[in-house]
Amino acid sequence: MSSVLTDLFPHPIVQAPMAGGVSVPQLAAAVSDAGGLGFLAAGYKTADGMYQEIKQLRGLTSRPFGVNLFLPQPETADPAAVDVYAHQLAGEASWYETELGDPESGRDDGYDAKLAVLLDNPVPVVSFHFGVPAREVIDALHRVGTLTFVTATTAEEARAVERAGADVVIAQGVEAGGHQGTHRDLLETDGSGIGLLSLVAQVRESVGIPIVAAGGIMRGGQIAAVCAAGARAAQLGTAFVAAHESGAHALHKQALTNPLFARTELTRAFSGRPARALVNRFVREHGPYAPAAYPQVHHLTAPLRKAAAKAGDAQGLALWAGQGHRMARELPAGQLVEVLVAELASARTALSAGGAR
Ligand SMILES: Cc1cc2nc3c(=O)[nH]c(=O)nc-3n(C[C@H](O)[C@H](O)[C@H](O)COP(=O)(O)O)c2cc1C
Repeated sequence: MSSVLTDLFPHPIVQAPMAGGVSVPQLAAAVSDAGGLGFLAAGYKTADGMYQEIKQLRGLTSRPFGVNLFLPQPETADPAAVDVYAHQLAGEASWYETELGDPESGRDDGYDAKLAVLLDNPVPVVSFHFGVPAREVIDALHRVGTLTFVTATTAEEARAVERAGADVVIAQGVEAGGHQGTHRDLLETDGSGIGLLSLVAQVRESVGIPIVAAGGIMRGGQIAAVCAAGARAAQLGTAFVAAHESGAHALHKQALTNPLFARTELTRAFSGRPARALVNRFVREHGPYAPAAYPQVHHLTAPLRKAAAKAGDAQGLALWAGQGHRMARELPAGQLVEVLVAELASARTALSAGGAR
């Protein structure tokens, strides 16, 4: 790893920020204490909610950690398409005995207020999803001693991340669970996104800043592979969804390895932006016509997802998961880091002996 990263976390393992209550402070603390980099997800929270989690995390660990922000989205959604989708979801609302949410409940995710908190109360790392922050934002974070990571899904996006002055690019392959962090919402949901190993190699030849690789990584041998391809560390989401400390709904954890959920798909059904989830009834029924309207669709479906969780119905939940979900291991997060580090070491030994399994 580059020294800027090894100083922060000795093992090349980043626990992905996971909005929606998954990457709680207990999870981030366990990962950072084990020598990885734990992350909090500020997405969908208020600025104060984010601040309270940071304070809680600081009480749990003295190790470095990161906080993730969503970039505000441009006004591109067609209100008529959102309206049509609301009509298509009416049957869900009556089935779960709830109302649909207000699609206009806010588009900027409280970005400016969250940045203000992070500038007043600096944290070691801030990462950004869904775009590139302005250079002034990155400069301001640097002035308070914060490193900046930004997601890219193509080599072109990675160049934009480097041009903006960020310290690290997170190369996110199409295998990744949750939302694709494309800078603009142009990705088709047909799987035409770039696979991680191709992406890391392309990004390596396009930028000079360190790369963190994300998407489908569940074993230490895969971390060895992306590092051999040019990444300095790997960011794992789905692997940590299953960890004991993760705040994921029990149904979400169980679904990762339940043979009834055989595959994942990129879908706009829950949020209006392509995100990878286990294919359940909701994805099958509504994915084919869900409009490109983020975050309006996220707000629209929020009460449905809440009601499905309350009813214990995994068929109505957003079961975010990467392509490696069947390999999830239900372990304490610190132990998961240790196992990954041991697998990484043996894969590196095998690679240097020229005979990886
Ligand atoms: C449940 C879940 C929630 C996620 N939420 C966020 C988020 O809030 N911010 C973010 O930058 N990435 C988020 N991601 C994407 C991860 O950063 C990462 O790209 C992905 O988990 C890597 O693929 P994997 O899940 O196969 O390991 C999320 C992923 C999952 C599985």
